[in-house]
Amino acid sequence: MKIGVIGAGQLGQMLALAGHPLALEFLFLDSSADSPGARVGPIITGRFDDPASLRKLAAGADLVTYEFENVPVSALEKVSRTRPCLPPVEALRVSQDRLLEKQLFQRLGIPTPPFRPVDSIDELREAVTAVGLPCVLKTRRLGYDGRGQHYLRRPADILPAWAALGGVPLILEGFVEFDREVSIIGARSTRGETRCYPLAENQHRGGILRVTRAPHRNVRLQRAAERHLRRLLDYFEYAGVLTIEFFVQRGKLIANEVAPRVHNSGHWTIEGAVTSQFENHLRAILGLPLGDTSPVGHAAMVNYIGTMPDRDRILALPGAHHHDYGKAPRAGRKLGHCTVVAPTAAGRDALLRQLLRRVPR
Ligand SMILES: Nc1ncnc2c1ncn2[C@@H]1O[C@H](COP(=O)(O)OP(=O)(O)O)[C@@H](O)[C@H]1O
Ligand SMILES: [Mg+2]
Repeated sequence: MKIGVIGAGQLGQMLALAGHPLALEFLFLDSSADSPGARVGPIITGRFDDPASLRKLAAGADLVTYEFENVPVSALEKVSRTRPCLPPVEALRVSQDRLLEKQLFQRLGIPTPPFRPVDSIDELREAVTAVGLPCVLKTRRLGYDGRGQHYLRRPADILPAWAALGGVPLILEGFVEFDREVSIIGARSTRGETRCYPLAENQHRGGILRVTRAPHRNVRLQRAAERHLRRLLDYFEYAGVLTIEFFVQRGKLIANEVAPRVHNSGHWTIEGAVTSQFENHLRAILGLPLGDTSPVGHAAMVNYIGTMPDRDRILALPGAHHHDYGKAPRAGRKLGHCTVVAPTAAGRDALLRQLLRRVPR
């Protein structure tokens, strides 16, 4: 069985690594030939919307999935005419647009920050009045790792925000004074079986995920997050892994965004859960029984951003699981990550402190 993967970044690489023990083969499509996926499977080099490359991918694979949210919907529709293509295109379409995403959250009774669509400077002024300051102006499409966002604290910030982002469809969101950020990852198989991982707590710096700790144990929040996740899974008649990012404010979940794919805040599941998010994504799209999502201890994951740490110093840390995606260093780029797992939360936090001392900031 050969899985075609649109995108050959680290998520694709880790999907293939999880699929090899199941005797699955992988074929990637990416615009860059030296992407991380190329280390674990053949790669078709071409743009995501190039018809010839897409035809080649569909012809060479039994089933197609994607590891990247900004795949053009039209590309996926094209592929799905000849090969099963999962997760469903509709989930991709909604998650590509922050406005559609928030409107769907609202429709399904999932709390969001206040928001308004913004397409002109006048609409921005009105939206700031309606949403209130502080707030965040974001591009509706194509943002990631904090890109395409501008914070507004005072009325004087309106014009600079418009100058920075105006000209494409935008959304203005209320700024959430959150106590913490958490995410939930779940899988739904083509047979309708669903399983959820425990909540993970995420720390971002400059809009980029830096540290994840899991499980974040809170029975009430876990129940609420699972309810929200299952609503989305059922709504899309989903197959694969889906992630929701939340803010936690005064003990309540406020949904930030959804990703129709395996997620950086789930990398801890490779060593920290019975079955990894990557394996469960594959099981889900293939209609296999889903694997146990229970944690096997307390895990922490640290991203390597911009600069790789000294590998030998990381490996000298007992229990460190070092992942080097093999990418060229560049400011703000995710180059790899490391996970530590311990029997207790306190033990995990001690390991995490040691790990953070070895990772460049
Ligand atoms: N409305 C908001 N209130 C407070 N913080 C926010 C808000 N929107 C984004 N952020 C911060 O910026 C980070 C990245 O924003 P997000 O909307 O998740 O975009 P991305 O697609 O880049 O991950 C969030 O994880 C959070 O730390
Ligand atoms: Mg995010």
